[in-house]
Amino acid sequence: MLEISGITIRYGPFLAVNAIDLRVNEGEIVGIVGPNGAGKTSLVKAIGGIVRPDAGRIVFQSRDLSDVPAHLRIGLGISIVPEGRGLFPRMSVEENLLMGGYALASAEEMARNIERCFALFPVLAERRRQAAGTLSGGQQQMLAISIGLMSTPKLFVLDEPSLGLAPIVIAEIGRTLRKLRETGLTVLLIEQNAKLTCSVAQRIYILTSGIVRHHDTADRVMASPEVLEHLI
Ligand SMILES: Nc1ncnc2c1ncn2[C@@H]1O[C@H](COP(=O)(O)OP(=O)(O)O)[C@@H](O)[C@H]1O
Ligand SMILES: [Mg+2]
Repeated sequence: MLEISGITIRYGPFLAVNAIDLRVNEGEIVGIVGPNGAGKTSLVKAIGGIVRPDAGRIVFQSRDLSDVPAHLRIGLGISIVPEGRGLFPRMSVEENLLMGGYALASAEEMARNIERCFALFPVLAERRRQAAGTLSGGQQQMLAISIGLMSTPKLFVLDEPSLGLAPIVIAEIGRTLRKLRETGLTVLLIEQNAKLTCSVAQRIYILTSGIVRHHDTADRVMASPEVLEHLI
């Protein structure tokens, strides 16, 4: 579904992402694990069309995205939950969900997707009229995930959903992502938290200093913690 080849991203003289190859098959959950500064968000921005790579290609469903502007990528089925969540804090939970579904063709699909988000996160249904900025950190991340799901994505990309959350809330995000996995959604999960990522993804890429250092199944990465210790 997504094929990244030789993606290189520079900021001036600084090489943030160095010729990365990566693939996500349909129905698969793929994790990218890497420390702060590894180039994870730069890669996410390249997928979203916010950053233009200096070299390489991103192909989504056999279509080269090089000349597809950011705002059209969502229509192709790519949805990104950005690092830092990207909510509208003064708008209500429900209004935030409507924003996430702005590109949908019909009111029926909008209503159906809102109900699906509320089924996934009942606490958001209870708080549908509350301003998003007044939710707890965990609830805000659930809302960010829901906003991302509103556009009925084919490829769902999450940039560090566990950032700044307490372990108990991270565990809940993990449960949610495993529930999403059961729906057959294709997910690219980008994280610093290797344990969370291995509990959700089937395959893992380990990224440090802009380079893919290791690539294996989540089971094998989990079974050899020295790999993680050595690399991160
Ligand atoms: N707009 C920018 N200008 C200059 N350097 C940047 C910019 N964005 C990111 N970087 C640098 O690129 C590297 C990778 O950043 P980033 O992609 O945000 O990594 P991660 O998400 O893995 O923490 C870091 O060293 C960061 O300081
Ligand atoms: Mg980042």
